[in-house]
Amino acid sequence: MATYDLVVIGTGPGGYVCAVRASQLGMKVAVVEKNATLGGTCLNVGCMPSKALLHASEMFEEAGHSFAKMGVSVPAPKLDLPAMMNFKQQGIDGNVKGVEFLMKKNKIDVLKGAGKILGIGKVEVSADGKSQVVETKNIVIATGSDIARLKGIEIDEKRIVSSTGALSLEKVPGRLLVIGAGVIGLELGSVWRRLGSEVMVVEFLDRILPGMDGEIAKQFQRILEKQGFAFKLGSKVTGVEANSKALLAKIEPAAGGAAETIEADVVLVCIGRAPYTDGLGLKEAGVALDARGRVQIDPHFATSLKGVYAIGDVVAGPMLAHKAEDEGVAVAEIIAGQAGHVNYDVIPGVVYTTPEVSSVGKTEEELKQAGTAYTVGKFPFTANGRSKVNQTTEGFVKVLADAKTDRVLGVHIIGREAGEMIHEACVLMEFGGSAEDLARTCHAHPTRSEAVKEAALAVGKRAIHM
Ligand code: FAD
Ligand code: NAI
Repeated sequence: MATYDLVVIGTGPGGYVCAVRASQLGMKVAVVEKNATLGGTCLNVGCMPSKALLHASEMFEEAGHSFAKMGVSVPAPKLDLPAMMNFKQQGIDGNVKGVEFLMKKNKIDVLKGAGKILGIGKVEVSADGKSQVVETKNIVIATGSDIARLKGIEIDEKRIVSSTGALSLEKVPGRLLVIGAGVIGLELGSVWRRLGSEVMVVEFLDRILPGMDGEIAKQFQRILEKQGFAFKLGSKVTGVEANSKALLAKIEPAAGGAAETIEADVVLVCIGRAPYTDGLGLKEAGVALDARGRVQIDPHFATSLKGVYAIGDVVAGPMLAHKAEDEGVAVAEIIAGQAGHVNYDVIPGVVYTTPEVSSVGKTEEELKQAGTAYTVGKFPFTANGRSKVNQTTEGFVKVLADAKTDRVLGVHIIGREAGEMIHEACVLMEFGGSAEDLARTCHAHPTRSEAVKEAALAVGKRAIHM
């Protein structure tokens, strides 16, 4: 029987990063994966394929709408959807191979099959009707999450799709109905709108992107509406009927009232994701779940069973790849006797649309609710030189700082490349920096990042270009 220091179940960004870090720390490590390829949701049906399609569809839109005004005259672009899907697949393959390489390089055994915890230090791996049991000092559960379903609406991944089906549609739907104005709905809605779909988004709440700063979300909604998105907020889809020609979605006000029917060709259900623990044998082994079905952990990622830890989407917290990765590193270090730690106050979030939305730390709503006295500095991209010459001036930067200490508590950006620009705020916040620190840091000219510096200056009411 093979014996290990650590067996990680699941090879998403949480699991494979944890395995690499543990190997670096001298442990004998194996990963267990039931999927045909490594990399989990993120690499196979999540972050990576969605970003490939966002990039390709953005190029398609730019070629059709933006090149001419810059004096680049090209014929109207034609969509070759199979080629675009091939581009996406090449990206997936490249990244998946990268993870295989990392496993080899770090001498990590890859055990293909479904993992089940038999008890302390024992994992059963089953594939093709055969199974083996491996012994290990420690186990990390990194089994991620699965799509959340809506009662009464059956996902067939052809006409009624989850994000997985929406990443592989065979033709551009004439009318796409998106249920849920969260990250997936707005990213994948953007992809198909750019490729020609009419997109309507139905959202239960009275706003889009819950959890993001309200002012940013409002401006984002206006920009998306200008791009052609239609929103039905404060509404829920209670059923979808299919006939041979169309899907008929029944929509009701969230607060109750008369229902209406909306026709669509494809319905995308993206109302969140659920922790994935099927087949792990957790109940029998004695690993406790919380009320929402997530593996329950203490502040050191330890579950209720000795030597068993859990990280990533399967535990509480934002369902983000980088959060899973950081937890993977932290838990490997804790198992090795080090002081592994994740700072949950500084986890950036990015929506990879055009413009992008990025955020770190507290929103204005959260500060108000906590009764924290704060100051706000804002700077629009319309006043940023680089954005002006590129004619991409939508959006603004918002810096929130403690009114007494000037310590930066949150930064929120809507604008092109917002996802790259947020990281200087993350580093600043990790070091407990102030708006003054950010404002006095020299920023290269001409860059869009100068808007971040200006927003920090605006906290002290001394922005230069506004
Ligand atoms: P996962 O990536 O879900 O991996 C879990 C792995 O465990 C899977 O490979 C699964 O097959 C395996 N597994 C499960 N049970 C068993 C078992 N019993 N035995 C063996 N193997 C098992 N996040 C971002 O930060 N940025 C983004 O841009 C982004 N885009 C996304 C786009 C989409 C469409 C979706 C759906 C998600 C996106 N996410 C994004 C979220 C991100 O994918 C997840 O937060 C991340 O993948 C979680 O990592 P994980 O390691 O916890 O789990
Ligand atoms: P989400 O939690 O971001 O958004 C779901 C939305 O659906 C919410 O606005 C919610 O109010 C709404 N909703 C819930 N039930 C509803 C109903 N019955 N009718 C109408 N609306 C309803 O979840 P989403 O978009 O499915 O994404 C899942 C996870 O994947 C998220 O946690 C996200 O963090 C992650 N992800 C991250 C990305 C990124 O970082 N760029 C990209 C895509 C996904």
